[in-house]
Amino acid sequence: MQAGLEYRHGSGYEPGMTGCAGLDLIGVNHAYDGTPVVRDFTLSVAPGELVCLLGPSGCGKTTVLRLLAGLEPLQQGRIAIAGKVVGEPGRDLPPEARGVGFVFQDMALFPHLDIAGNVGFGLRRLSAGEKRTRVKAMLNRVHLDGFVHAWPHQLSGGQQQRVALARALAPAPRAMLLDEPFSGLDTRLRSAVRDEALHLLKSDKVTTLVVTHDPEEAMFMADRIAVMRDGALEQVGRPAEIYTQPASEFVAEFMGEVNRIDSVVRDGHVATPFGRVQANGHAEGKAVHVLIRPEALKVAGAEQGIVTAPPIGVLPARVLASRLLGRTSWVHVCLNTDPTHRHEGPGGLEEHSHWHVRVPGHFLPAEGSELRISLDPRQVFVFPAPAPT
Ligand SMILES: Nc1ncnc2c1ncn2[C@@H]1O[C@H](COP(=O)(O)OP(=O)(O)OP(=O)(O)O)[C@@H](O)[C@H]1O
Ligand SMILES: [Mg+2]
Repeated sequence: MQAGLEYRHGSGYEPGMTGCAGLDLIGVNHAYDGTPVVRDFTLSVAPGELVCLLGPSGCGKTTVLRLLAGLEPLQQGRIAIAGKVVGEPGRDLPPEARGVGFVFQDMALFPHLDIAGNVGFGLRRLSAGEKRTRVKAMLNRVHLDGFVHAWPHQLSGGQQQRVALARALAPAPRAMLLDEPFSGLDTRLRSAVRDEALHLLKSDKVTTLVVTHDPEEAMFMADRIAVMRDGALEQVGRPAEIYTQPASEFVAEFMGEVNRIDSVVRDGHVATPFGRVQANGHAEGKAVHVLIRPEALKVAGAEQGIVTAPPIGVLPARVLASRLLGRTSWVHVCLNTDPTHRHEGPGGLEEHSHWHVRVPGHFLPAEGSELRISLDPRQVFVFPAPAPT
């Protein structure tokens, strides 16, 4: 074995053991049967940091996690844990030698072991007494104290997921890899289990990479979000950065719904029905997409908290429908109540007269009623329109 490639049997928990490890993927490429699924992938997770790998189904998220865990032979690039190379083409440390815990998408509990047996599974180095103490402590942390001798089939989905988490955390891994760990749960249970997991991981300062395709989940959990598209990273940054300064139209749309209009850059600005906004450096005459978040539209009379900039252009809008979605209300409006009003976009106002507006709280204007709407120009994104094919 090569000198830099050191075997560690660090996944065995010993009392008093602490410490967490950074994760590094450097220039990783991976293909299945000649089809590339991970492309030029470089990402570091700092010790104690929680990074969410976010992207649509099939973009390669699980493959990245499998490569990190050592479940897939590395074809190109390098993988390091705690600064030690654990994977290079032809030289992969086996999963059990990497000191990482994982909870995979389809990971089930061992049906032939009770809950204590499942949680204690990775605690090979402990005496029977130490093992019992550790299992008890872990079950306490996931609020399943009474379940030591229960069997997996006697537990609900959420309880099983918490056991899986306890099992992965019991050996005090230096890093955790979680692949859609809450996906099987209903909305309420999901946020409860997620909240618990987050506190557990953060209080233990465990380095964590979590895969999800849910932007809200990523924003809830992550110190940083890595947005992935077609095998490559599209943007990496803090949640607020990703949401308010998306690097591409793909990221903007993936993070949350947008109203989109076509426009053309003139005098450094683009036209919207509400007036001109800055073109953010796009070249004169360039065809662009203007993306406007539903919460960037401000409704006169609705309480919408702090507006980040003075709103522009107050326009009349007719309510097509309004729905209460819990914390927010969603209002569909039609902007072209005045047929003489036109903006300069190539498509004209007609084709995008239907807009979505998000207002906090209970605000349900009647269908057909008229609202006055303005735009917070700071929540408008301008990206080049893709070249026609
Ligand atoms: N063992 C395999 N053999 C061949 N192709 C595979 C294999 N595993 C995954 N793929 C393909 O690689 C691509 C990436 O798969 P991967 O499971 O990494 O995506 P993902 O982002 O985790 O998707 P999801 O969100 O649906 O779980 C997909 O097109 C998938 O069909
Ligand atoms: Mg997956």
